Amino acid sequence: MLAKVTSCALEGLEGVLVDVEVDTSRGMPSLVIVGLPDAAVKESSERVRSAIKNSGFVFPGKRITVNLAPADIRKAGPAYDLPIAVGVLIASEQVWPQAVEGALFIGELSLDGSVRHVNGVLPIAALAQQQGIPRVFVPACDAPEAALIDELEIIPIEHLAGLAAHLQGLRKIAPHAPDIGPASLPLPPYAADFAEIKGQEHVKRALEVAAAGGHNCLMAGPPGAGKTLLARSLPSILPTMTINESLEVTKVYSIAGLLPDDTPLVRHRPFRAPHHSISHAGLVGGGNWPRPGEISLAHRGVLFLDELPEFGTRTLEGLRQPLEDRKISIARAAGTLTFPANFMFVAAMNPCPCGYYGDPTHGCTCSMQSISRYQKRISGPLLDRIDIHVEVPRVDVEKLTADRLGEPSEAIRARVETAREAQRARFASGPGVPGPATPLSCNADMGPTEVRAVCNLDEAGRSLVKAAMQQLGMSARAFHRILKLARTIADLAGSERIETPHLAEAIQYRPRRAA
Ligand SMILES: Nc1ncnc2c1ncn2[C@@H]1O[C@H](COP(=O)(O)OP(=O)(O)OP(=O)(O)O)[C@@H](O)[C@H]1O
Ligand SMILES: [Mg+2]
Repeated sequence: MLAKVTSCALEGLEGVLVDVEVDTSRGMPSLVIVGLPDAAVKESSERVRSAIKNSGFVFPGKRITVNLAPADIRKAGPAYDLPIAVGVLIASEQVWPQAVEGALFIGELSLDGSVRHVNGVLPIAALAQQQGIPRVFVPACDAPEAALIDELEIIPIEHLAGLAAHLQGLRKIAPHAPDIGPASLPLPPYAADFAEIKGQEHVKRALEVAAAGGHNCLMAGPPGAGKTLLARSLPSILPTMTINESLEVTKVYSIAGLLPDDTPLVRHRPFRAPHHSISHAGLVGGGNWPRPGEISLAHRGVLFLDELPEFGTRTLEGLRQPLEDRKISIARAAGTLTFPANFMFVAAMNPCPCGYYGDPTHGCTCSMQSISRYQKRISGPLLDRIDIHVEVPRVDVEKLTADRLGEPSEAIRARVETAREAQRARFASGPGVPGPATPLSCNADMGPTEVRAVCNLDEAGRSLVKAAMQQLGMSARAFHRILKLARTIADLAGSERIETPHLAEAIQYRPRRAA
C-alpha cells in the first residue's frame, strides 16, 4: 500500500513542502530512502525501524521504499524520521491514511520512540500557515516556537506511541496553547549603564544617533579609553523590536539551532561580537550545508567588531555587499541561498599599532609608514559605508574620579524609541513615500527613492552639503548616507524638517580621511 505524509525541507530561511511517500511491496525485508537524502536522512531507516518496534507496533517484514519529493531539493538532517515512521505505520495499515490529511509532520526519533528537537521549526510552521495546512505535529520541546505562528493547530509530540494513539483516535493530544510571554521585557544583557561611563559625552551622543536610525559606527582611540565598554553597553539603549522583527530574528536563530530552550521568541535585538580570528564563512555564512553567519545572527541587531584592523582583509571585504544589500546570497552547487543580514555595524580600533597616535599626553612610537600600513588594512569602500566616525580620546582624571553620574541608559533609550517610532510611522503611511515593497523600519534602510521623498533640504542646507562634498571629496554614497543620518538627527530632535544644525552634525561624523 502507498502512504503519503506531508513534511518540510528548508532552503536558507524558507521552507519547501516535501511529500514523504512510503510504499511496501513483497521482497527482501529492507527500507530504502530515495530523493536526494543526505547521510543523516539515510540513517533514518535504522532509527525508524527501532522506534516503531519499541513503541509497540509491528515493523512490516517487506520491501519498503521511501521517496522524498520533489527529488531535486536536498534533504538534510534527521527531521524526516517522524513523517517516515508515520508513513510506514499507514502503509502497514496500523494507522488510517485519513488521519494525516491536512497535517504536516516534523521530528527526530530516538531508538525508544521518543521525539527529539529539530532546528528550524518556526519557518516550517510559517510555511504550513502560508500553504493553508491547518495542523502541524512537532516535537513537544519545539511546540512553543511553532505556536508563535497564528491560526495553526500545533500538536506537541513526546513519543511515537502517543502520536499513533492520537492518529488512531484512541487518545487525543491537546494542541499547544500559544504563549508570547510576559508583556514587559527584562533588559537585555549589557556591560554597563551609560550613566556609569564617565565623560565621552560626544561618543554617547553618536551611539544614540546610531541606535535611533540603525546607522553604522566606527570608534577610534587610544587603549583604555572605553571603546569596548561603550560598544558593549549599546544594547541598553537599542529600541525594542516589533513583533515582525522578532519573528525574522527567531527564524534565523531557529535555523542555526541557537534558540535557547526557554525562549521560543527572540525579543531582544541580537548583539554579536565575534573574535577577530573568525573565518570568512563564520562571518558571512556558508559551509557545506550553508549556515547563517554572524552577520545574519546579528540581523535587526548589532554586529560589533572590536580591534577592526586585526580582522583578515578578505573577511572584512566580505561585509561590503551585505552592508549595502542588507542580505547575503551564498552560491552553492545546489543553488543560491539567501539569509537576511540587516544589522547595525559597530567597530572599534586604535589609531595605530602602539595605540597612542594623536594622544596629547602619551607619545606614539610608530613610524608614519607603520601607521599608514595599519590604517590601510581597512579599505576605503568599507570606511565609506560607515556613517558615523567618532574619536574616543582618553578620559581626563577629573571626569574619571568625579562622583557625578551621567545620563542613565533608560533616558537615552526613551529618546531612541520615540525617534524610531516616528520613522516607522513615516514609512508605514507617510506622505511622499511611494509604498516601499517591504516596509522599512529605520532610516538606515532607506533607498534612493525614499531619501528623495523624505530628506528634503532647504537652500541653506543644500549649499552646506555642496561645500562639504567638495572639501571632503565625498562619494555619492556618502552624500546619501549624510542625508539619512541628518534625517535621524532631526527625528531625535522631533523635527519634521531637516534643519541646518542637523545636517552639520551629520557631516561632522564623516571621516576627515576621505575615502
Ligand atoms: N569613560 C570611562 N568611564 C568609566 N570607566 C572607564 C571609561 N573608560 C574606560 N573605563 C574602564 O577601563 C576599562 C577598559 O576600557 P575598554 O576596554 O573599553 O578600553 P578600550 O578603549 O576598548 O581599549 P583598547 O583599545 O585597549 O581595546 C573598562 O572596562 C572600564 O573599567
Ligand atoms: Mg577594546
